[in-house]
Amino acid sequence: MNVPFIDLARLTKSMKSEVLADWSEVFDKIEFVGGPRVGALEKALCSTLGVNKSIACANGTDALIIGLQALGVRHGHRVALPNMTFWATYEAIAQLGATPVLIDIDPDDLQMSFSEFTKAYDAYKFNSAVLVHLFGWASKNLHEYRKFCAEKGVSLLEDGAQCFGVKVDGKPVLQGSTVGTTSFYPAKVVGGCVDGGAIFADDEAREKLIRSLCNHGRSAHYSYDRVGWNSRMGGLQAAFLNHMVARTDEIVADRRRAAEWYRKRLAGTRNLRIYGPPAGHDENGYLAVFTVADSVDVNSVTEKLKAKGIGFGRTYPETMDSQPPASYAIKFGSLEHSKRFCKSALNLPLFFGITEQELEASASALVEILQG
Ligand SMILES: Cc1ncc(COP(=O)(O)O)c(C=O)c1O
Repeated sequence: MNVPFIDLARLTKSMKSEVLADWSEVFDKIEFVGGPRVGALEKALCSTLGVNKSIACANGTDALIIGLQALGVRHGHRVALPNMTFWATYEAIAQLGATPVLIDIDPDDLQMSFSEFTKAYDAYKFNSAVLVHLFGWASKNLHEYRKFCAEKGVSLLEDGAQCFGVKVDGKPVLQGSTVGTTSFYPAKVVGGCVDGGAIFADDEAREKLIRSLCNHGRSAHYSYDRVGWNSRMGGLQAAFLNHMVARTDEIVADRRRAAEWYRKRLAGTRNLRIYGPPAGHDENGYLAVFTVADSVDVNSVTEKLKAKGIGFGRTYPETMDSQPPASYAIKFGSLEHSKRFCKSALNLPLFFGITEQELEASASALVEILQG
C-alpha cells in the first residue's frame, strides 16, 4: 500500500462547494485586498486561539518580521531563538538587522531549553526572544518563559506556526502571549489556499501599530508614520480560511488521533525514540516525531520507506548554526541536543483523514526496517 506523507485533498474536497460559492461572491464584490471576510477571519482567530487582537497578513515569515518590529527589535539588538526551528524564525531576526543568539533544545520536549535560555541571558543579555512552539505542542516551561521575560524586560514573540489549536492546561497555547504569530501555509494544521499568516497582540495599541506596519506604515491616506511593509490578506484566502478555522476542533481531533495511534503502535520498537507533548499539553497532531538510534543511518531508513511506498519527512535535518548565513550568529554552548536530534529526525505520514490502514502500513514498514 502506498501512503503519501501528506494529502491535503482529504480535507479540502469536503469544503469545495461552499468555498467556490464564497469565491464567486468575493469575485463579484472585488474583495481582493482586505474586506469583510478578512475582518470575520480576524474575529474567528481571536475566539479560536484565545488572543485579544488578531491581524491577518501575507505569510508566517512576514508575521514574524512585523511582530518583532512591533516589539521594537532593530539593528544592534540581540534576539534569542532555538537552534532547531524552521529557517524563517532565524531569517526574521536577521532581516531586522538584529543578532540571533542560538540556544539548544530540551532533548525531551524538543523546544528551546529553558535552562540554557536563562544561562544565555546571563551571558548575553539579549533584548528579545522568539519562543517557537514546534511540532504540535509547546515547551513544558511555557509559563516560566513568559514570567522570566516579563521580569527581565526581554520582549517575547511566540512563533505559533505549528501550534494552531494546541491547548496547555485546557487553554489555547497563545492565550497570555504578548505577540504571537501563525502561518497559513497550506500544509499547516489549519492552512490556506495560498500563503498567509496572522499576528496576534495583547492590546489595542500594539494592534494599531501592527496594522500600520502591515500597510506600509500608513497613518492616514498618503501619510506614513513609519517605514512598514505590504503584508495583507484578501477575500479569496479569507473565505477559504473561514471554512478551515470553523473546523479547527474536528481537524485537530482527527490529527491527534493519528499521532496517538502511532505512539501506541510503535511503543517499544527497537532503535526508535517516540516523542509527544509534555504533561498538560493537548497536541494538534502537526507531526509524528521520531528519532532513530545513533547506530542507525536515518538515510538508509528513508530509502527503504521510499522503496515500500511510504511517505516520510525529516523535520528538521539540520540546525540553524550549520547554515552558512548563521556564521555571525552567537552560538550559546555546545548546542549538542539540537544537533543530535536533527541527525536522526524522522516523521511518518500524518494528515487529516489518514485511515487506520494507512497508519498501520506506515508503522509496520518502519518496524520491519528497524527490527528486520
Ligand atoms: C516554525 C515556523 N515559523 C515560521 C514559518 C513561516 O511561515 P510561512 O511559510 O507562512 O512564511 C513556518 C512555516 O512555514 C514555521 O514552521
